[in-house]
Amino acid sequence: METFYVTTPIYYVNDVPHIGHAYTTLAADVLARWHKLKGDDVYFLTGTDEHGQKMDQAAAEKGVTPIELADKNSQSFKDLWSRMGIAYDDFIRTTEPRHQAAVAEIYNRIKKSGDVYKGEYEGLYCVRCETYYTELQLENGNCPVHQMPVDKVKESSYFFRTSKYQDRLVKYIEDHPEFIMPESRRNEILSFVKSGLEDLSISRTNFQWGIPVPDDPAHVLYVWVDALTNYISALGFGHENDEKFKRFWPADFHLIGKDILRHHAVIWPCLLMSAGVPLPKTVFAHGWWTNEGRKMGKSLNNFIDPYEVINKFGLEPFRYFLLREVPFGLDGDFSYDALKHRINSDLANDLGNLLSRTAGMAGKYTAGKLTAPAARDSVDQELIKTVERTVKEAELAMAECAFHKALTVIWAMISAANKYIDVTRPFTLAKDPAQKDRLDAVLYNVAELLRIAAILISPFMPDAAGRMWEQIGAPGAPSDPPLSGKIKWGGLPSGTVMTKGAALFPRIE
Ligand code: MSP
Repeated sequence: METFYVTTPIYYVNDVPHIGHAYTTLAADVLARWHKLKGDDVYFLTGTDEHGQKMDQAAAEKGVTPIELADKNSQSFKDLWSRMGIAYDDFIRTTEPRHQAAVAEIYNRIKKSGDVYKGEYEGLYCVRCETYYTELQLENGNCPVHQMPVDKVKESSYFFRTSKYQDRLVKYIEDHPEFIMPESRRNEILSFVKSGLEDLSISRTNFQWGIPVPDDPAHVLYVWVDALTNYISALGFGHENDEKFKRFWPADFHLIGKDILRHHAVIWPCLLMSAGVPLPKTVFAHGWWTNEGRKMGKSLNNFIDPYEVINKFGLEPFRYFLLREVPFGLDGDFSYDALKHRINSDLANDLGNLLSRTAGMAGKYTAGKLTAPAARDSVDQELIKTVERTVKEAELAMAECAFHKALTVIWAMISAANKYIDVTRPFTLAKDPAQKDRLDAVLYNVAELLRIAAILISPFMPDAAGRMWEQIGAPGAPSDPPLSGKIKWGGLPSGTVMTKGAALFPRIE
């Protein structure tokens, strides 16, 4: 059995979740469900990033302690995940003892490698992204991510010898084209690393909300060193029982947003090399969502609230839209018009109508009974070829996180089925008793295509896939593994009874 380990970033708990957080977590959920469907041994980790100066300041502004704020907001992330049907296997909080022990272990290892030294840090820091910047990296004197002023800091600090790993990292990226995806991001990181890596300040002294440096507790560890370690602390790294670490590390995918790529594709691999831990297989950076064309931000107060979208349009249309509308890796725009269009055209019209049309005809002409055909016409052969090609293409797309591509080919298959009905005209066949076998064949073929569609769709829209399955009358559940066995054409038992149910997706007016 193959293992599959996928992670999301751990989210800052200075605030409540918005669509950007929902996006990465949804992508990880779909990937995890896909691999469970394949029959893999899957581990899906998410969690919250609870230390650092930003948290310290946010708590002070709200007049609560950092841990009170962390407890409250960490729960609000968990609540959203449960509302969104996110089936994670573990939720890590960086304030948990299991995490702190692993961070101490990482620190001790990089120190043992001779990669930690004490010095003084003088430079620029953006508290919002908890990141150091050089003058050159600023845009109009502001943080390039937030477009807000940065702080000048000067303090005693421990440094990590990132510079020592520059050449090894370049070679690693060159030898492992799948390490950073998509390709454009890989090139960006490669040229950044080649331009020279500076040692990294890994401790702070001007606040206390963090994990103390093990051998100098007057310092707290830099929040990114703390946070990145979550990917292995959750697996038991540094603990006596590290069975999960042995089983699941290295991770198959770290899914992240493009703004935190350097942390994941530069700092993290250097720390791991220093600590003697293998590197993750792929760091995949997705793009950013804008809201009706505008960048989302605190100052505009225009973050899209996932609850609002879900309450208005339903959870699964939201899940579908996020992964269908924009290629994973590119920036995209969220608009209610685009969402409504997708719901009405792809979900209600193409898929929903195909199901209700087929179930309706089966009910009317054969009392729902589906009979596997003895013969195949050339249109049937063509339809079956389309299905087989779709399965292959969807698998390839999912292997590279190309969710939109997987959905596009699945929907092309659904359109092919709608056309197949138009061409084979079961409503005409039904008028002629001599055409009974042909009518049976057509109905069976469409139902079988719908069964395969339900399986392929199940990681994206598990509930809709289950409702399709029920109407088709197929045995088991669409998400039952393994994919390879049950996705083959002809898997629907002859004699299955299809029943028309409620509309799969109501139209939005
Ligand atoms: N705590 C760090 C991650 C540490 S991982 C070891 C962090 N947290 S965050 O809460 O600020 O952001 C988490 C994720 O949300 C990032 O991947 C970021 O790209 C994503 N998004 C924030 N705004 C976004 C959009 N507008 N659109 C898409 N994703 C966005 O960074």
